[in-house]
Parts: sequence; structure tokens; C-alpha cells
Amino acid sequence: MKTLNIIGAGRLGKTLGRLWQQAGVFQVQSILNRSFDNAKAAEDFIGAGRAVPALKSMEPADFWLIACGDSEIAATADRLADHLGKREGIVAFHCSGALSSQVLEVLRPASIASAHPVHSFADPLRSLDSFTGSSVALEGDSSATAALEEAFTAIGCKTLTIEAQHKSLYHAGSVIACNYLTVLIDLSLHSFAAAGIDRDSALKLLEPIVLQTAQNNMALGPETSLTGPIARGDLETVANQLKNLTSVSPELAHHYRQLGLACVELARRGQLSDESAAKLIELLSEPMR
Ligand SMILES: NC(=O)c1ccc[n+]([C@@H]2O[C@H](COP(=O)([O-])OP(=O)(O)OC[C@H]3O[C@@H](n4cnc5c(N)ncnc54)[C@H](OP(=O)(O)O)[C@@H]3O)[C@@H](O)[C@H]2O)c1
Repeated sequence: MKTLNIIGAGRLGKTLGRLWQQAGVFQVQSILNRSFDNAKAAEDFIGAGRAVPALKSMEPADFWLIACGDSEIAATADRLADHLGKREGIVAFHCSGALSSQVLEVLRPASIASAHPVHSFADPLRSLDSFTGSSVALEGDSSATAALEEAFTAIGCKTLTIEAQHKSLYHAGSVIACNYLTVLIDLSLHSFAAAGIDRDSALKLLEPIVLQTAQNNMALGPETSLTGPIARGDLETVANQLKNLTSVSPELAHHYRQLGLACVELARRGQLSDESAAKLIELLSEPMR
């Protein structure tokens, strides 16, 4: 079995480590975190490998995953290059969505790649169950991407390839749908709280409709999935909501306006008439100061 060293066994690193170890894809070997205690905890979570206190204690390995935060990847690659020397025949990769494999150039002649799982590793234990079926965008040297395609496929992922110059826009697409959805839920909870509905009740109330909306979007696309007052051109309801939100929180009202304007554009691609759209845009635009 090929061996894998992990630098940065945080939410993503330890999840992938455990999945690959359990599937017999990689033998996890040395694990390095900023804090030795966290590396030990990652060792326990993975159920294999050995936490080490420093880069110089890491054993040789076939694959090196640099899974620290994006801002730490370049500096970590520099230090790893010093540690490895000009080692051939190994694969070094990171999992950032925003950065390309170029940030690992210093590690040549190693084969380098980036492999971005389109998955939210908010809770590693939950990810162990939900990671199967996720897509992973691969970019970099063909020998490295071929090996990583095999490794991710073996744990139930689909892979796609992405050009280095497109990574930022590709990643923004994932950020908008995934991270901004979380922001939308938070904003929604603020509005429910102002209506006297506590957080737990609001989450229970939201669960079926949010999941159903996501499923509708995947099956039907956004134009057909959009319902509600803006899609119907119901100016009175929108004006009323805006007035009440403003009285509770001008910030919440501001977000409602901004997202509402994007919603009008989407609704125009569906049934909304130009006349209703113009009135909604006027209503939702920020008042002149
Ligand atoms: N989270 C996601 O949903 C997700 C999804 C796709 C891709 N990614 C990518 O995956 C990578 C890791 O993200 P994450 O969410 O797993 O981050 P994370 O949970 O914050 O984990 C980062 C880990 O890196 C370690 N670390 C930081 N600096 C280090 C250094 N100089 N040397 C050794 N270890 C260091 C930290 O150690 P300590 O534990 O000691 O602090 C921590 O365990 C990023 O490139 C990110 O863009 C994340």
C-alpha cells in the first residue's frame, strides 16, 4: 500500500486520512499539526499513523498532503522542500479550492497537484458518512492527478479536471452556493427570532423547506424552483416585509434588498413581467440618503 503523510490534519486532513486508511488506499504514516496535541487527536481519529512534533521527524512517504489553511500552504511547501531535498517519485498535493498546484512548484521534482473536494467538512464525524458521492476537482501534473483520481474514486468520489487559471472562479461558484447558503440560514434565523420563534423551532421549521428547495434546484434549475412574493410580483407583501425588517434591523433589511434585487433578475427569466420587475427594483433599491 502507498504511504501518505499529512501536514495539517484538521477537519479535511483527518477526514481524508481516515477514509483512505479504512478503504486500504493509503497507509497513513506521519501526522504533523501546529500543536502536537492536535496531531495526537488526529492520530486517534484516523486510527493509524503517528503524530510527530516537527517536520524533521516525518518519515519518507509516497504521498504528501498539505492540508493546513490556504495562507499557510506556500510557507509549508517551502519548509517541506528543505526537508525533502530534490526527492523524485513522490506526489505532493493540497486541497485548496482557491489555489492551484503552482504554489507547490518549490517541491519539484515531486509530482504536484491540487485536489479540491466540493464538500463542507464542518464536522469530521458527519463527513465520514456524507463524503461519498462528493466531487473532487483535480488540477496539476498528469501523473499526480491520475494517482489522486484513483485514490478519491476508491472512497466513492467523482472527479473532474479544472485548469489552473479557472480555479478562483470555480471556487467562487462553490463558495456562493455553499457558504452563502449558510449565511442565508443565519439571516433567516434572525428574522424568525424577531418574530418570537426560537432558534431550535426555526431550524426544525426550516429543515424540510430548505432541503426541498435544494432538491428542486438540482432537479428543475433555479428559474423553475423560485417561488414566493417576488416571483409572483406581489409588491404589497415585499413592501410590508421590508418595512418590518427595517424596524427590527436595518442591516437585515439591507441584505433583504440586495438579495431581493438578484431575485428579481432571476424571476424575470421566469414569469415575472417587465412592469412588475421595474416596480420591485424601485422598491428594493436602497433609499437615497
Ligand atoms: N473545511 C472545508 O470544508 C474544506 C473544503 C474543501 C477544501 N478545504 C481545504 O482544506 C484545507 C484545510 O482546511 P480545513 O478546513 O481542514 O482547515 P482546519 O480545520 O483549520 O485545519 C488546518 C490544520 O492545519 C494545521 N496547520 C496550520 N498551520 C500549520 C503548519 N504551519 N504546520 C502544520 N500544520 C499546520 C492546523 O493545526 P492545529 O490543529 O494544530 O491548529 C490544523 O489542524 C484548506 O486548504 C482548505 O481550503 C477545506
